[in-house]
Amino acid sequence: MKNYITDIVKHNGAKLRKLFIIGLRDMYWAEKKLIKSLPKLARTATSEDLKVVFETHLTETQAHVNRLERIFKVIDEPAKTKKCSAMVGLINECDEIIESTEEQSSVRDWGLIFASQKIEHYEIASYGTLRTIAHILRYAEVAELLQITLDEEIQANGKLNDLAEAYIYMEAVLD
Ligand SMILES: [Fe+2]
Repeated sequence: MKNYITDIVKHNGAKLRKLFIIGLRDMYWAEKKLIKSLPKLARTATSEDLKVVFETHLTETQAHVNRLERIFKVIDEPAKTKKCSAMVGLINECDEIIESTEEQSSVRDWGLIFASQKIEHYEIASYGTLRTIAHILRYAEVAELLQITLDEEIQANGKLNDLAEAYIYMEAVLD
């Protein structure tokens, strides 16, 4: 495995670095888009608990943007964005759910949890891969920074899971 990685860096290091930068720019755009979108999710959520999850994640997302800017500095690249088509689609799904569910309903919250977990999974997949590429490219500090963000995304997804489970419990009690 070690020889294989050394081989990648030796022969494809520049190409892999280019791919890495594209990935960082994609996430930089995606996180900025989320900063604009999370307040709407918090505003339209029904339960106080779900609103808090979105508001907390907004603060974390701001930190993710700052961390990406630090990463661009470390690798000596300008902090540029690249439009993330996946995030456009995921946010569109959130809007569709808001439009197709009633205000102040538990179904609205189910829909928002469903849609925002897809966002978290996209981010978890992206940061996990970027962290691994950072290791391969021997950007130890960058890999550490990406791991911090990755852990926060995993945590945010866990909170959404906990809420979904609490709802299942509540609906079961109400039945
Ligand atoms: Fe994030």
